[in-house]
Amino acid sequence: MPPESHNDYDTETLEKAFVCRRMPPDVEAAMAARFRVDRNESDALLSPAAIAERARDVSVLFVTATERIDGELLRNLSPALKTVATLSVGHDHIDLATARELGIDVLHTPDVLSDACAEVAMMLLLNAARRGYEADRMVRGGQWPGWAPTQLLGKGLVGKRLGIFGMGRIGRAIATRARAFGMRIHYHNRSRLPAELEDGAIYHATLADLCVHSDMLMVAAPGAPQLKGALDAAHIAALPRGAVVANISRGDIVSDDALIAALQSGHVFAAGLDVFANEPNLDPRYRQFDNVFLSPHIGSATEETRNAMGWLLLDGLAALRRGERPANLISAVANAQPT
Ligand code: DGY
Repeated sequence: MPPESHNDYDTETLEKAFVCRRMPPDVEAAMAARFRVDRNESDALLSPAAIAERARDVSVLFVTATERIDGELLRNLSPALKTVATLSVGHDHIDLATARELGIDVLHTPDVLSDACAEVAMMLLLNAARRGYEADRMVRGGQWPGWAPTQLLGKGLVGKRLGIFGMGRIGRAIATRARAFGMRIHYHNRSRLPAELEDGAIYHATLADLCVHSDMLMVAAPGAPQLKGALDAAHIAALPRGAVVANISRGDIVSDDALIAALQSGHVFAAGLDVFANEPNLDPRYRQFDNVFLSPHIGSATEETRNAMGWLLLDGLAALRRGERPANLISAVANAQPT
């Protein structure tokens, strides 16, 4: 078992770690107790070159989805670097193949954030379907003339088909909540789930077929190079007219041009987006739509969840150092697994 308190560690022999972003206070304290930590105090985004400079000689690199951990950076930090620990379930920002080639372990944070992400997924869906942005603006801006029978009519969730693209842990947590709202669940994955995980959801072997059967579509597939632009103009055209689209996964899975054209034409009634291509510099056209609910990548942003993510990485590191293979160790072939 690893020591429980700071005093139990021999500070002379602690491994060196670099922390690329500021973490919740308890997580930072625990990291400082277990490693000789240097951290990015300013929390400004660091380029791979800046990380290479700051993290020279460390054996542990704590990153998040905002850092690009490419092959060149890993080669620069090898052989000292032994573990990359990312405070995210997604790992599309890390060159896993090079990590494997260099013998660098990569840890991530599955499971502990599924409920938090599913909550935000429902927030996106409800705000898009029930016109949350316009409603808030009307009241806040002093523009509310009072109740009216035709005011801000949206689309209800009850009885609608929710198509979930990516029925991994997060997708299934969304399905559980959506069922409670009276929705019928359809999904597309690379392969069909066993019946106990499907829980009555209807499988579609292609994304196109899922789109045809989705009154509302939730993107919950993991970020991966092969999924870039997967929800393209043809898929969006296959949605029933008046569909709602939400994205809790990675922005680059959706073609911005295609979604924006469909919002302009009215083919898509509304969208709810928590993630964007090229964050934080999202396509500025999204800001012009009243029927797009925008959220700044806060899927896992609860105190409990971010702490749990931090602990999962620290526990994983302790397990690795004991010679074990923790469940949150990513293998190089994991790239397209649903999250
Ligand atoms: C994740 O965990 O992948 C979230 O998107 C935060 O990066």
